[in-house]
Amino acid sequence: MDFVNQTIVSFVKLLPKTIVHIFAKKYIAGETLQDAINVVKQLNSKGIFATLDVLGEAIKTKDEAIHEKEECLRVLNAISENNLKANLSIKPTSLGLSIDEEFFYQQLKEVLTKAKEFKNFVRVDMEDSPYTSATIKIFKRLQSEFDNVGIVVQAYLKRTMDDVKDLNMTKTNYRLCKGIYIEPEEIAYKNKQSIRDNFLKLLETMLQNKSYVGIATHDDYLVNGAYRIIEEMKLQKDKYEFQMLYGVTERLRDKINSDGHKIRIYVPYGKKWYAYSIRRMQENPEVAGHIAKSIFKFN
Ligand code: FDA
Repeated sequence: MDFVNQTIVSFVKLLPKTIVHIFAKKYIAGETLQDAINVVKQLNSKGIFATLDVLGEAIKTKDEAIHEKEECLRVLNAISENNLKANLSIKPTSLGLSIDEEFFYQQLKEVLTKAKEFKNFVRVDMEDSPYTSATIKIFKRLQSEFDNVGIVVQAYLKRTMDDVKDLNMTKTNYRLCKGIYIEPEEIAYKNKQSIRDNFLKLLETMLQNKSYVGIATHDDYLVNGAYRIIEEMKLQKDKYEFQMLYGVTERLRDKINSDGHKIRIYVPYGKKWYAYSIRRMQENPEVAGHIAKSIFKFN
């Protein structure tokens, strides 16, 4: 991120929440579960799948983590009751990973048990690098007990190819993404093309292993690269899906859908929308710039 963009993001962080909310609305379904259900129904009506995310990272107590888990159980109930084509994504720290690993394991196990009852699936999101090893460790433990759990790996981390080789030993269900957190140079590729190259190398490695992959990107270059790999490997359509974030590059989303590939949209909702929105801005500071301009009309 260049200096100007960095400055804009820092500046936006100083804005009142009500103003950031103007921007956030595009990327979150709303504050309530019903808001999220309404968005998923609209997506499903276009043949698009969803994964729901309760916005609740950075919790500090076990009580908060239990509350988050209960919301996850409500989501699974709602998906079933409303016959939604949707599953659930969970941020490990929202269920307590940063407080106590064993506690997190038990919490996630409860969610997976409920999901299994509903024949549904849970994806464990990947957060910043202090949590990578613990997330993989607990995922592997749960993967030996459940067949309805998947994990996310990040192409910007230098360790990821080794992680994938390890996870490929058991048939892992992956979401592959670039990675959204700001990581040190020693452990993460910083160059855009190096991240893309690693993404496509990882994708091939996963697919050659016959693993199911959620190809999570809005980058045309990667979508085209994935199309090429799918074509070369003559992959059946039930072996992979594309994934995108709610509110981002809807034209590309619709193109992938009309090309006949399965596509799933990550739909976040909840009262804790602020941190998620700031991350979206760090990701695409032009958006922060647009907000700043629309408020202060400077050009
Ligand atoms: P890139 O950032 O190059 O974006 C390509 C184009 O998409 C941009 O040029 C722009 O037009 C558009 N775009 C991208 N982001 C935008 C935005 N915020 N607003 C407007 N336009 C935007 N990361 C992680 O670390 N852990 C995780 O668990 C997940 N989970 C996850 C799930 C799903 C379904 C997706 C799609 C992504 C994630 N990510 C994630 C985020 C991911 O790591 C990555 O940061 C973003 O997808 C952005 O990278 P792209 O590959 O889309 O390319």
